Amino acid sequence: MDSIILIGFMGSGKSSVGTLLAKELRFRFIDTDREIEKENHRKISKIFDESGEEYFRNLETGYIRNLIPLRQPSVISTGGGLPLRECNAGLLREIGMVVYLKAEKDTIINRVKKDKNRPLLRAGDLEKQVEDLLRLRELHYKECAHIEISTDNLSLSDIVSEIINKYKRWDAAGRITS
Ligand code: S3P
Repeated sequence: MDSIILIGFMGSGKSSVGTLLAKELRFRFIDTDREIEKENHRKISKIFDESGEEYFRNLETGYIRNLIPLRQPSVISTGGGLPLRECNAGLLREIGMVVYLKAEKDTIINRVKKDKNRPLLRAGDLEKQVEDLLRLRELHYKECAHIEISTDNLSLSDIVSEIINKYKRWDAAGRITS
């Protein structure tokens, strides 16, 4: 059975959606950021500060690569920058059904503005940073995903139901059947 992989910008709700989705499906829940923190005994912000972004990106690729042979169906919530590397996007699509949780700029800003733990949004004008990064990333998310859900006007349980619905119609060839 394939896994479900959640991708999307910081603050798009991947962790909250993933936790509930895994509970409903009785799947294991994996949050790549939390797993990388555990394996490296450092918070993400510390890894960025001490070793740099490129080092963190390599950890992400290594982590995803190790997930491929596991084959235990899981819900995997990914860091917002993980699908940007082409090789990562390919690996994610091998693991299962990739879902892009799309959120508008204002929703994202509201969610991330109080959180000081995201190294890419720590300094400067938050609105501009989110806008610029979103513009750069949107296409990558769309290209990586099998399905896309606009989350702004949906409740958590609506989003989870929609994903479960799609997953029931998911075939391993990478298609949603009608
Ligand atoms: C990042 C997103 C973060 C985390 C790191 C980098 C990004 O995860 O992986 O701070 O590049 O978008 P969340 O999307 O869970 O905030």
